[in-house]
Parts: sequence; C-alpha cells; structure tokens
Amino acid sequence: MRLNHLTLTNYRAFSRLDMDLPRRILLLVGANAQGKTSLLEAIYFFSTFTSIQASNDRQLINFLALNEPLAVTRLLAEIEKKEKKHQIEIRLILDQSNNNGNARLRKEILIDGVKRSAHQAVGLFNAVIFLPNMTRIIEGGPDERRRYLNLALAQTVPGYAQALSDYAQAISQRNALLKQLAERSSDPAQLDYWDELTADRGAFILFQRIQALEEMQSILTQTHRHLTRDKEILHFNFQSSLEITPTFFGSPDQNQNHLNVEKIKSNFLEELKLKRREEIARGVTTIGPHRDELRFLSNQIDLGIYGSRGQIRTALLSLKLAEVEWMFQKTGEYPVLLLDETLAELDVERRADLLSYLNNGKQAILTTTDLDLFEPDFVQTADIWQIHGGLVKPEKQG
Ligand SMILES: Nc1ncnc2c1ncn2[C@@H]1O[C@H](COP(=O)(O)OP(=O)(O)OP(=O)(O)O)[C@@H](O)[C@H]1O
Ligand SMILES: [Mg+2]
Repeated sequence: MRLNHLTLTNYRAFSRLDMDLPRRILLLVGANAQGKTSLLEAIYFFSTFTSIQASNDRQLINFLALNEPLAVTRLLAEIEKKEKKHQIEIRLILDQSNNNGNARLRKEILIDGVKRSAHQAVGLFNAVIFLPNMTRIIEGGPDERRRYLNLALAQTVPGYAQALSDYAQAISQRNALLKQLAERSSDPAQLDYWDELTADRGAFILFQRIQALEEMQSILTQTHRHLTRDKEILHFNFQSSLEITPTFFGSPDQNQNHLNVEKIKSNFLEELKLKRREEIARGVTTIGPHRDELRFLSNQIDLGIYGSRGQIRTALLSLKLAEVEWMFQKTGEYPVLLLDETLAELDVERRADLLSYLNNGKQAILTTTDLDLFEPDFVQTADIWQIHGGLVKPEKQG
C-alpha cells in the first residue's frame, strides 16, 4: 500500500497543498501548531472517511473558506494498491448561501471519479495512525476501545462498516420502541422485527471482533515480549455482554473456534427475549456489541487501572504494531503508518526498536518537533520535510 500523491484544498490550516510522497520514510519536522497532526489526520481520513481528531467534519474546513457563502474543502489522494493506482477524492461542501444559520455539510466521496458511499469506499486505502493522546485506548472509557476496534475492522473486514451503521440504527429504533412500550402498554411483539435486526447485525460485529482479537493476540504477545525484553506478557481481555461469547483470550484452551455467526445470533435473540421485560422497564438495549469491553492485561494486571505511563505507552506501541501486522496478514499489503510525535514518548531502547521496525520497506510518515530524537543513520535514509504555517518544504531526500 502506498500513498503516492496528496492534494489538499481549504483543509484546516492548508489553503493548498500538493505533494508527491516518498515511497518509504518521511520525517515531517516543524514547531508547534504548524500543521503536522492535521496532515496525518488528512491522510488517515482516506482510510476511514472520518476524522480521528475532530468531532465533526465542519472543523476540517479552513477558517478563511468558512467566510465564503460556498465553502469547499477537497482532499485528493493517489494511492497504489496491488500494483494498481486509484484516486480517492473527498469533498466537504458547506453551502451557507440560503439557510438560516444552519447550513448542512455535504460529504462526497469519489473513487476513481465515481461517487461512492463511505461504506463502499472504506477498505481501499489502509492506514494505521498513532497519536500521543491514544493512550486513551488503554486508560479511557470502553467507548474508546470500541472505536479503536471499529476503525481497524472497518478498514479490513468487508461489510463491517455497513453492519456497524445498520446496528446503530437498529439499536436506536429499538430503544425508542422500548421507551414507547413503557409509556403506553401496546403489543411488545412489535419488538420482534428490531430484535431480529439487532441480533443479526450484532452477531456479525461480535464475531468479527472476536476473530480479529484472536488473530491479533499472538502478534501482540510476541511484539510486546520483544519490546519489554521478555518482561511482560500482554493479553486482550474481551468482555462481552452476551453469555455465549468468550471473556478471555490468550490461552489456547480458551480458543473459541466453535463460535460462528449463526450461533451467536440465535443466542443473542434468545437473550433479548429473556431480557425483554427488564429492557422495556429501562428503555434501553442492555446487551450487544455496543456494550462490549476490552481490557489490556500485562502479566495479568489491568493496565487501564494499574499501568505506569511508560507501560501504557509501550503497550500502545505493541498494539499499533500488531494492528499493522494483522492488516498485512488480512489484506496482503502493509498499511501506511502515521506516527505523530511517537518517538518523543518513548525511551531510547523503544525508539531504536521502532526505527528498526520501520526500516523494512513500509511507507511511514513521522512527525517531530525535534529531529535530534532520531538516530543519525535513520535520518540519513529518510526524506525530510519542514512544515511551517501549513506550508511544506522538502529539505532532503533519503
Ligand atoms: N479549520 C481550520 N482552519 C484553519 N486553521 C486551523 C483549522 N483547524 C485547525 N487549525 C490550526 O492549524 C494549526 C495546526 O494544528 P496542528 O495540530 O496540525 O499542529 P501541529 O504541527 O501538530 O502542532 P503540535 O506540535 O503542537 O502538535 C493550529 O494552530 C490550529 O489552530
Ligand atoms: Mg500535533
């Protein structure tokens, strides 16, 4: 997987950026607030069609462009996958000309010039991103971990993104109906339709999550053992709200090979029936993948509760590298790696580990405020660009 060319128009601090990307390693050097993270965010956008940073797409539109009646932000990438080139274009269009202060943002996605939905387009370009605030995945709330899983799976597993959106819709309709049933006692059989949809889409999501975690587990253990010099064994601890699905990974006898989507679905349906009375009283759906939890255990200790800063950072690095290798196993291509200020967060040994991992033919873009964090040998092999006020200037070729 390669990103060959990137064009940004009216995107965040970049009024216009047009650049060919090096095939290997790019070091993006700049002071604070110059656009480093924004650039990685833009590239990641092509993989999931959602911002990893912003809470809504409007934040991505350049401030000056927002003053125009018609604000258009455009992101264009030329990528190369399995020796074929593709164009991915994203347009964010805000027409403020005849509204009453609440213009709606339109998002258009074009693959090779043809309009596609985000669900159709996701998976064409794969990227793994590492931002300093991502320690939240380990120490934040369960929604952070579900989001992490969803972004990785949406890119890699066909149909996952669509299933997620169907499921979210089913849950929201089902919850509305549960509340209605509590208020006026109409026929609870109306729930059957939503139960079926919830269980169907939910079972697919759960099954894919379990499978992905099982596949990633062995890579994760191995990577983390290496990064901690055999001191720590890192395990996923997946906790599902459904009775049928496993709650632990990492030991061979806990292997859940016997699970399949149909089996999860029929159990899910049964559990929904059993819980029906309680759920009507509470007005919410209490089981399903929207309630999944994933903990990270190092030597059986929960890092989200007891992990030290350094331990959590190292575990996050292991997780990200495991994700890269897992995507490679699933798709036959290495994702593009986007590392924001990652070195500054690591100790000397871990830095060296990461740099040697990157020196392996993968395409990676690293940002830094301080080039001195990098080994001279590594700097030698990389392309270096300076970034200042949303403008990028190539400084040296690798
Ligand atoms: N929609 C926007 N329009 C114009 N400028 C924006 C927009 N969104 C963000 N910015 C500005 O872009 C600048 C660059 O932000 P970014 O986070 O990319 O910087 P950075 O180089 O990663 O800095 P740091 O080293 O502090 O992490 C910030 O000053 C921010 O205010
Ligand atoms: Mg930044």
